[in-house]
Amino acid sequence: MHDVLYVTSEMYPFSKTGGLGDVMGALPPCVHEKGVNAAVITPFYGRMNLDGRKLRLVYSDLHVGYPWPSTTAEIYQTDYDGMPVYFVARGEYFDRRYYYNTHNGDYFDNCERFIFFCKTVLKWARLLPSPPAVIHSHDWQSALVPPYLHFERARDSFWKNTKSVSTIHNLAFQGRFSERLFHESGLPAEAWSMHGAEFYGDFNMLKASIAYSDAVTAVSPTYAAEILGPEFGCGLEGFLRSNSGKIEGILNGADYNVWDPCEDKFLPCCYSAEDIRGKQQCKQSMLREFYMSDQLEDKPVFGFIGRLRDQKGVDLLIDIIPKLMEKDVGLIVLGEGNLAYEAQLLDLMEEYSGKLCVQVGYTENLAHAIQAGSDIFLMPSRYEPCGLTQIYALRFGTPPVATAVGGLCDTITPYPDEEATGFTFAESDADLFFEAIEQAIAVWHDRDEWEKMVKRAMRKEFTWDRSADEYIKLYRKLGARI
Ligand code: ADP
Ligand code: GLC
Repeated sequence: MHDVLYVTSEMYPFSKTGGLGDVMGALPPCVHEKGVNAAVITPFYGRMNLDGRKLRLVYSDLHVGYPWPSTTAEIYQTDYDGMPVYFVARGEYFDRRYYYNTHNGDYFDNCERFIFFCKTVLKWARLLPSPPAVIHSHDWQSALVPPYLHFERARDSFWKNTKSVSTIHNLAFQGRFSERLFHESGLPAEAWSMHGAEFYGDFNMLKASIAYSDAVTAVSPTYAAEILGPEFGCGLEGFLRSNSGKIEGILNGADYNVWDPCEDKFLPCCYSAEDIRGKQQCKQSMLREFYMSDQLEDKPVFGFIGRLRDQKGVDLLIDIIPKLMEKDVGLIVLGEGNLAYEAQLLDLMEEYSGKLCVQVGYTENLAHAIQAGSDIFLMPSRYEPCGLTQIYALRFGTPPVATAVGGLCDTITPYPDEEATGFTFAESDADLFFEAIEQAIAVWHDRDEWEKMVKRAMRKEFTWDRSADEYIKLYRKLGARI
């Protein structure tokens, strides 16, 4: 029996391209631990990391009937800390080198792939001995589950008590496709309206989810408010405002089982707020690993980890690098994404070798090494629904310099507050970003004050425990009997 079924296109440690993977690896197990039976269903990717777990085949040919009347799926199951995780397998859709896109752009059949995924989820769940009390979908890839459920509920009493929740992790990705694909999706004609799946003549999967879910959440309270306005609403602000009664913000947490320098399998040594000496050793080992000058050992070293996309303010970072390199500091950048950003950063590395290191790629262990080994974390995001890397940076004693947007506002207490845990600047502007960096450097040189800030940051708790309670409260508010 599953009280809450989470539907997601990523789940750490099996699959991850960013924060969604981290959230789905942590929230469901936390809800499960609290006595609410949770399960997750996610695609079976060819490049998945099974971490040594065994899989059990549950269905060898579950009839899906999409895109062809004869199409079937395989369903596998594994155990994740006592919680079941199900995988939807169909090689032609998910056995690919990347999850959603190559360097040349999105896979041409993304809409078809995720219609197939969402349809399979409901077909499979319909065969469960009893329906889940809540089906909780995440982002556009799982967004059609609530609309399918909505229309099924009207004609099939099996679903009559099942509620749906849709979480927006990033409104910029809406799953917007041509009208033709709406007609293929199997949603009824009545869903093709400005109050449903239609958006300027296109099929908008996330909009459909917002329209037909019983509740919608965004991943931080500030972002939940920001998306109601034109600056961050990505064209959906009016529609979101008209649905605002069912939208709320629930702040993500951090999985401190994975992200805590106290016991981190990727670090050369451990440290905590009580004894931070190990951080210096992590810094030395990081500088060595990245072939950076050992003179940086007693200079401020900055770190940046993130997708090299406009969202993350990579252009601001590139803008300030020449000025930053005039100072006695180092910078390590880990990321991949936009080819032009990658090339510009690599060019800059040639110019400032020894002080600037750029690692293009996606490497979990290096992300931990940089969180621990840097002194100051850079996060000049243009928008940030929640952001997890700054939450990890706090725990690793690496105060962030970040734009005051979205979840960054909800997690960083900015200097000069006496409880400061980092530095923020008001808007996406390279000069303001650089001023905040200079402020951070000045505080870093005041060793006592810096140590106090580091310890304050490390003691901040953004646990999943609190967020999971808020989600359970929401499920119950919807009337779910859990
Ligand atoms: P987003 O989901 O917008 O990418 P978050 O801050 O919520 O941003 O989460 C990003 C996650 O992805 C973090 O776990 C971060 O460590 C990880 N990450 C991002 N880029 C890389 C990279 N190049 N290598 C390893 N991990 C990365
Ligand atoms: C998205 C957002 C990020 C958030 C993550 C997890 O990828 O860009 O801000 O932390 O989802 O919710």
